Amino acid sequence: MIPFDFNEATTKLNAEITALNFDKKPQELYHPVRYFLDLGGKRMRPLLSLLSCYLFDNEYIKATKASLAIEIFHNFTLIHDDIMDNAPLRRGKPTVHEKWNRNIALLAGDITLIEAYEHLEYLPNEIRKDVVKRFNKTAFEVCEGQQFDMNFELREEVSIEEYIEMIRLKTAVLLGFSMYMGAKIGNATEIEANKMYEVALNIGLAFQIKDDYLDVYGDAKKFGKQVGGDILSDKKTFLLLSALKSKNNTDLKNIIGNKNTSSNEKINKVLAIYEKENIKHITEIEMKKYFDKAIEILKTVSADESKKSFISQYFNDLMTRET
Ligand code: IPE
Ligand code: IPE
Ligand code: MG
Ligand code: MG
Ligand code: MG
Repeated sequence: MIPFDFNEATTKLNAEITALNFDKKPQELYHPVRYFLDLGGKRMRPLLSLLSCYLFDNEYIKATKASLAIEIFHNFTLIHDDIMDNAPLRRGKPTVHEKWNRNIALLAGDITLIEAYEHLEYLPNEIRKDVVKRFNKTAFEVCEGQQFDMNFELREEVSIEEYIEMIRLKTAVLLGFSMYMGAKIGNATEIEANKMYEVALNIGLAFQIKDDYLDVYGDAKKFGKQVGGDILSDKKTFLLLSALKSKNNTDLKNIIGNKNTSSNEKINKVLAIYEKENIKHITEIEMKKYFDKAIEILKTVSADESKKSFISQYFNDLMTRET
């Protein structure tokens, strides 16, 4: 098996990002974009794309520039997400709207989105039209998911099924698309590429549930985001919805939407309820359910077995992550 070189892939992705020219006027428009892209992050989506390409073609590095379209699009969603979620921190640094202001963050997001579309030009000619179409469908879905996420903040009752559909849209489809696109660049058949979509979709569901979990139980320094932020904004996370399922949920219902409690008091009260209801464990089980499903589907993909177990190991690392 030709090895997949994470170091080389990550270095190449970051070098391509560094090479983008944002040294333009007006600085107020381009500096925040440079700032945000340089904050780094896991670069998980382009890595998923490259890994999926690798499964079908050893020359996976050729997918780098097109894969950056997904990473840049992801950064656009984060800049706007941080405005919507009132988030002060991202990757351990102030968010764009916090460091500058909301209008600057809106336009920085817009520029980032346009930059993402420019990178789709790097798709091979034979697949570009179809893959761009699928990218657009994915982008619509991400926005739909983000709107459901905000609608749910204001709703008292949200079912777990509705929650799963919301995170499928806001998070999982982009991971699905990443592995679909990588497979297509690696000349996989449509059937195999769609299987990779399903694999990553399930990883995406597990990934967002873990994100909800880290928002409560993460180490602020490693996580790089404000811990407890979801509780403060009444996000209908998997944890909150699971706790609301208990018979004695009156205390919790009274805490949600209560504007008179201090931030710390609200977080501590919710934490105590999570503790009592064993929410940490319930969340871990749910995450594993989707992780296992992804691995089951991956097993059915016709590709080199040792490459597949290499990818499973990467998925495993994502599930045990602290950032
Ligand atoms: C954050 O994504 C948004 C979610 C879908 C949970 P990541 O956790 O991949 O963020 P970065 O890019 O590594 O910072
Ligand atoms: C993010 O969900 C989904 C998108 C950005 C599309 P979150 O709001 O939970 O992501 P974080 O926690 O801010 O990274
Ligand atoms: Mg959000
Ligand atoms: Mg957010
Ligand atoms: Mg989150």
